[in-house]
Amino acid sequence: MNLDEIRGKAVWEIKGARNAEELEAVRVKYLGRKSELTGVLRSLKNLPLPERKERSVLANALKRELTGLLQERAREFSTVRGARVDVTRPGERLRVGHLHPLSLMYRRVRDIFSSMNFSVVDGPEIETDYYNFEALNMPADHPARDLWDTFWLADGRLLRTHTSPVQVRYMETHEPPFQIIVPGRVYRYEATDASHEYNFYQVEGLMVGEDVSFAHLKYVIETFLRRLFGTGVAFRFRPSYFPFTEPSVEVDIRRTGKGTSSKWLELMGAGMVHRNVFDAARYNPRDIQGFAFGVGLDRLAMIQYHIPDIRLFYSGDLRFTRQF
Ligand code: DAH
Repeated sequence: MNLDEIRGKAVWEIKGARNAEELEAVRVKYLGRKSELTGVLRSLKNLPLPERKERSVLANALKRELTGLLQERAREFSTVRGARVDVTRPGERLRVGHLHPLSLMYRRVRDIFSSMNFSVVDGPEIETDYYNFEALNMPADHPARDLWDTFWLADGRLLRTHTSPVQVRYMETHEPPFQIIVPGRVYRYEATDASHEYNFYQVEGLMVGEDVSFAHLKYVIETFLRRLFGTGVAFRFRPSYFPFTEPSVEVDIRRTGKGTSSKWLELMGAGMVHRNVFDAARYNPRDIQGFAFGVGLDRLAMIQYHIPDIRLFYSGDLRFTRQF
């Protein structure tokens, strides 16, 4: 057989091999020690030089081609038909991204207030002294400002210490009656520890109308907290002080269900909107009244998910966030 004939038969048989064993037989037949091609290669040295060169190029090219084809088919058998697929092996779990615990908590809070017809309103994190303090009945030198130390920008603006400034911003451009919540990030100039961060999240609430009363405040806040934490919740409204409300209260809860601690937890501030705040918004306090509240989202999430340290929220530690 000349090289062309060998090639023709070999290619045909390589393509026709139905399994690894047949393929191996074909390999031995055409490339093995006793194969014709090997014989041709071996006899090259007996040929005169010019002819030897030519034959050698052709014979080696054929050897390479057949070797390549054999390898290709061999791969086919090892990955498809002969593949060692262990069908009992557990599947590989895909890692799906998920929401941060603060986002989870925010969504629950938002859904509860949406169901009570509250709208969601946004405000700037960089605030002016006016909205963060002054319009909230805290003129310069008001001692209550000490409670809200913050980061100041060179131009006199500041990072808002609470979401309350959005109360005035919203009232400036809207007419009552309305009810809103304002979720958002707030900042404090503060040393961090397990329960303090220099930034965290709040949800502000504001409901204003002709006859919105303290009874509405109690109803809305109690309904909110019962839906959030379940029916086993006791409430305590303690007299307190905020410059922007009068009267002011602090709301404590105690979870009464089985396996929960019976300690009172301070949860949020609230009160009836101070008339000076309505003045700042150019509302006539004779015509309307309303209540406001502010709650820390981080605090709600810490209670709900039993998180002992607020700093975990901002650690970026996946071992933490993956647990939710
Ligand atoms: N802004 C207050 C704070 O950051 C929380 C607060 C208290 C908001 C009473 C209110 C309120 O709207 O009525 O501590």
